Amino acid sequence: SQQKTALNDKLLAICQLLETTIPHYNWVGFYFKNGDKNELKLGPYVGEPTDHDIIPFGKGICGQVAISNKNFVVADVAAQDNYIACSITVKAEIVIPIFVNGENMGQIDIDSNTPDPFTEADERFLEFVCAKVSALLEA
Ligand code: SME
Repeated sequence: SQQKTALNDKLLAICQLLETTIPHYNWVGFYFKNGDKNELKLGPYVGEPTDHDIIPFGKGICGQVAISNKNFVVADVAAQDNYIACSITVKAEIVIPIFVNGENMGQIDIDSNTPDPFTEADERFLEFVCAKVSALLEA
């Protein structure tokens, strides 16, 4: 629909802004709950294309956040056994859930080619971004 296109344009603009502005953000994208299925579906993103457009709940860093409802900051992806690799250049990852009316509807997922780059400042900033995205989803 036209409304969905407008929303996806805004989400893509957020990805582009984050990726171009913050040097340690190298892949920036959104995953959303896929209807009533227990899986995530890839939304707008910036960076290398990924094969993982569907991620079952529980699988990988993203799938774990779909269940835990908590931020997941991964300093070193090589140290994670439940991890889905999208690119060999990726060293670290941060995933922040997006809540709409208290329900976990998706997440922002950011990969970094820099080892251990994410701080609490990234978490607070990205929680703020996710709250703005939540308002867009509600509108
Ligand atoms: N690394 C993620 C998969 C998504 S890609 O980073 C784009 C994970 O382990 O869930």
